[in-house]
Amino acid sequence: MWESTICTAFKAHENGVTRTAPIPMPLNVTRSAFVRLLLLAAGIGPLMAAQAQAQPPIVIKFSHVVATDTPKGKAADHFARRAAELTGGKVRVEVFPNSQLYRDKEEMEALQLGAVQMLAPSLSKFAPLGVKEFEVFDLPFIFDNPQELQKVTNGPVGQALLGKLETRGITGLAYWNNGFKVMSANRPLKTVADYQGLRMRIQSSKVLGAQMRALKATPQVLAFSETYAALQNGSVDGTENPPSNLYTQRMHEVQKHVSLTYHGYLGYAVVVNKRFWDGLPKDIRAALTQAMAEATQVANESASKDNQAALAAIRASGKTQIHQPSAAERAQLKAALLTVHKEMAGRIGDETIQDIYQATGFQAPRPH
Ligand code: SIN
Repeated sequence: MWESTICTAFKAHENGVTRTAPIPMPLNVTRSAFVRLLLLAAGIGPLMAAQAQAQPPIVIKFSHVVATDTPKGKAADHFARRAAELTGGKVRVEVFPNSQLYRDKEEMEALQLGAVQMLAPSLSKFAPLGVKEFEVFDLPFIFDNPQELQKVTNGPVGQALLGKLETRGITGLAYWNNGFKVMSANRPLKTVADYQGLRMRIQSSKVLGAQMRALKATPQVLAFSETYAALQNGSVDGTENPPSNLYTQRMHEVQKHVSLTYHGYLGYAVVVNKRFWDGLPKDIRAALTQAMAEATQVANESASKDNQAALAAIRASGKTQIHQPSAAERAQLKAALLTVHKEMAGRIGDETIQDIYQATGFQAPRPH
């Protein structure tokens, strides 16, 4: 009777962990001391559970350079929310948008050093790591539409490119889309001659440099966070970006003309510090992989909608004239820019370019 009373009390406090054998009372202990011991032990279970719950969460610092109301911004926030939900709060993703923590170049260094765990840099920003093949995405007119692009990013070529980051201490998790770029300046950009002599801000990509030089413009590499000020103070004349970036950075307020050239692509690789990622418990990594798949869908579904909405807002602002190139203007621009494919084959690697041509069915137009 005594033993069963003690055991029942013990079980009730063990939070579901059942003990089938009665607990014998040691001979050298008084009954009241034994009761005190059992009560103490009974208290340890809930305490340990509380301690497990109070374990500090795994923190992922996710730095990026764009506004929150862009495809990347929305996808990063979605990932943060789902990561917390799917891991039951064991992971906390802290998102730092708008270059709050780091600018373009610094964020790559911070990732490699482990000062942040996750980024989603534009594909144009990977070559400085020594993975020049990523600049293939910058080749003008290489993709005609998002479907062609997805054949690459969802297929073996895209996955092989992500794999090349491993030797740099980086694991590629996903590609996020942001759509096709337009050109802007303070003068109308209709014919190729209109670009001549303009100082055009670009990302740190040699292919983008070659692209601007093919138009007889002068490329100037600048961090994304510095672009608005540079356009405003006139240290550069123009730039290129998808409309959602242009609008959310208010670049249209300091650019009188936008031309809907859609000459090149801008997308992201979501990357994580490899040592951090490999060191995560398996179940946490699986939950984060699921959260990332959902966030990827958010980015990819937002890109086209956000760009359309941004163009409408730019138009409505009345600050910028939007030019839709005619078929002849677009053909002229395309002919001028396709020269960059051959010119940059040595840098990117002809094999990578051919792989993409094959995946998309790209065919260079015959010269007239
Ligand atoms: C970004 O979309 O992350 C920035 C693009 C740029 O630097 O132009």
